[in-house]
Amino acid sequence: HGHGHGKDGDLRFAAVPPNTDDRLTVPSGYASAVVVRWGDPVLPGAPAFDFERQTAAAQAAQFGYNCDYVTFFPMGEQRGLLWVNHEYTDENLMFRGYTDGSAATPEQIKIAMAAHGGSVVEVERAGRSGQWKLITQGRRRYNRRVTVHTPMRFTGPAAGSDLLKTAADPAGVKPIGMLNNCAGGTTPWGTVLSGEENFNQYFVNGNGVPEAQKPFLTRYGVSATTGIPSGNRRFDRVEERFDLAKHPNEINRTGWIVEIDPFDPDSTPIKRTALGRLAHEGATTSLAEDGRVVAYMGDDSRFEYVYKFVSKNRYIRGFDRHNRSLLDEGTLYVARFTGDSPAAEIDGSGKLPSDRSFDGSGTWIPLVSGNVSHVPGMTAQEVLVYTRTAADKVGATKMDRPEDVERNPVTGGVYVALTNNTNRTPAQADEANPRAANKHGHILEIVERRNDAGATTFAWSLPLVCGDPSDPSTYFSGFDKAKVSPISCPDNVAFDADGNLWISTDGNQLGAHDGLFVMPVRGSEKGYLRQFLSVPVAAETCGPLITDDQRSVFVAVQHPGESTGATPEAPTSHWPDGGTSQPRPSVAVVWHKQGKKIGS
Ligand code: FEO
Ligand code: CA
Ligand code: CA
Ligand code: CA
Repeated sequence: HGHGHGKDGDLRFAAVPPNTDDRLTVPSGYASAVVVRWGDPVLPGAPAFDFERQTAAAQAAQFGYNCDYVTFFPMGEQRGLLWVNHEYTDENLMFRGYTDGSAATPEQIKIAMAAHGGSVVEVERAGRSGQWKLITQGRRRYNRRVTVHTPMRFTGPAAGSDLLKTAADPAGVKPIGMLNNCAGGTTPWGTVLSGEENFNQYFVNGNGVPEAQKPFLTRYGVSATTGIPSGNRRFDRVEERFDLAKHPNEINRTGWIVEIDPFDPDSTPIKRTALGRLAHEGATTSLAEDGRVVAYMGDDSRFEYVYKFVSKNRYIRGFDRHNRSLLDEGTLYVARFTGDSPAAEIDGSGKLPSDRSFDGSGTWIPLVSGNVSHVPGMTAQEVLVYTRTAADKVGATKMDRPEDVERNPVTGGVYVALTNNTNRTPAQADEANPRAANKHGHILEIVERRNDAGATTFAWSLPLVCGDPSDPSTYFSGFDKAKVSPISCPDNVAFDADGNLWISTDGNQLGAHDGLFVMPVRGSEKGYLRQFLSVPVAAETCGPLITDDQRSVFVAVQHPGESTGATPEAPTSHWPDGGTSQPRPSVAVVWHKQGKKIGS
């Protein structure tokens, strides 16, 4: 491998100490800048942001709220595209005097709808530095907004299923918009895969669905006994399809992986049903040894599962029409993790077992291949629409909130971020989820058999058990705990060109702000975790991306100021604009002031 020395990860920066500053803090020698903020014009002709006079029409042409997944497509040395997910909205921070969805104005509800989805924005490099800036003038042919109202289509084995048919779409093939898009990935053919995550929160009147559907609603986190859940945004007040009593199948049309072509602003986003329906954190791809496409996926809830999809056919470089059908046919698997230490040594305390490692072997259990179900009592379409129920039946391993799952392009290891699970009891502890009341989460590494992403068995281990290093239940691959940074609640992962693992956090339980961390996964510094940046008050760090040239890090600073009771009259963050300004979720870029490689 041609990058760096390989041996120790090449990381030399001094770690950012844990802190509670209302700013983006980066290491000495680095600089940061905001690239694009909530409300910045995206489509040519969009009005400038005006917090006091926001409209749905303006929002639909401006950068959305709560930026999450970020990916970057270079177009030469000086120009590029950013794709950014807009996961959800904080109405209590967006509108003065907001109480709840039932009292909101229809225009406020429409603004929230337009602030969901995703954005494509063109950016340009500042001179020869690692800084990138939003292009605000002239031709921006790729800029796009995707929202709750963007026409989409279903493909794959569940397209046209009775479970996806509604009054507005009797063929069950044309869903409208996407909801709660959290993390994501890219494909080898240059498109985005965006995950619809906590879609359950957008619907009302679950008590009004047919009895036979109620167990499935419940399994997906929707109350089947409640009319209007508290805190509901009440999209149903402006669009009837969000009322489950009237349109019980509408909810089945969300919870998918959505493929979007960032280079064709007129293209129709595609919900790929072959990848199953769950609270999709995201999907990241790799190629099997034989060229089949593999998508790794997590279902971010307590006691949910890790999945992967393996295409039937092989990727053929440059054969675009062929490649764009690969995610429609293949096998969807769910993971079972088996420990190699005696069960009696896994007591929920996090104490290492006698073999000094949380590790073992595992199996990818097939759920469905094309139109063939592998789950007794369920059709292929039922497996794809009610994937959680299917996985329950085959003995998959219940994990501590599986979020990003991504393969290291240098080593081939597959890393699973397990954010936390305070509900796990000591009796429920297993070697892959070894701590009861797991407040701080952990990272699991899968090594596929023969290091082939297409394999159906694997070895696994936990290279990182998070928390304060003074906590005896933490583990940093055996590295000297006196030198590492505290870390809590790993969420998104990324890799640099040296194969170092980058981890962003959501919900730090150690009293400091969330941040971005990096840890070598091999060599003499394996486990030497260091904090690279921290984010402002009440923000989450999302979408980390280290550019291929290793000169820039993009991060999404999601929900700054999202503190209990915060309002526009009493904001808890003024990031990024400072002074007395309202907080604005924004994508930022970090670079070394002397143009050195990230991590130097
Ligand atoms: Fe939207 Fe799983 O974080
Ligand atoms: Ca073991
Ligand atoms: Ca996330
Ligand atoms: Ca999160």
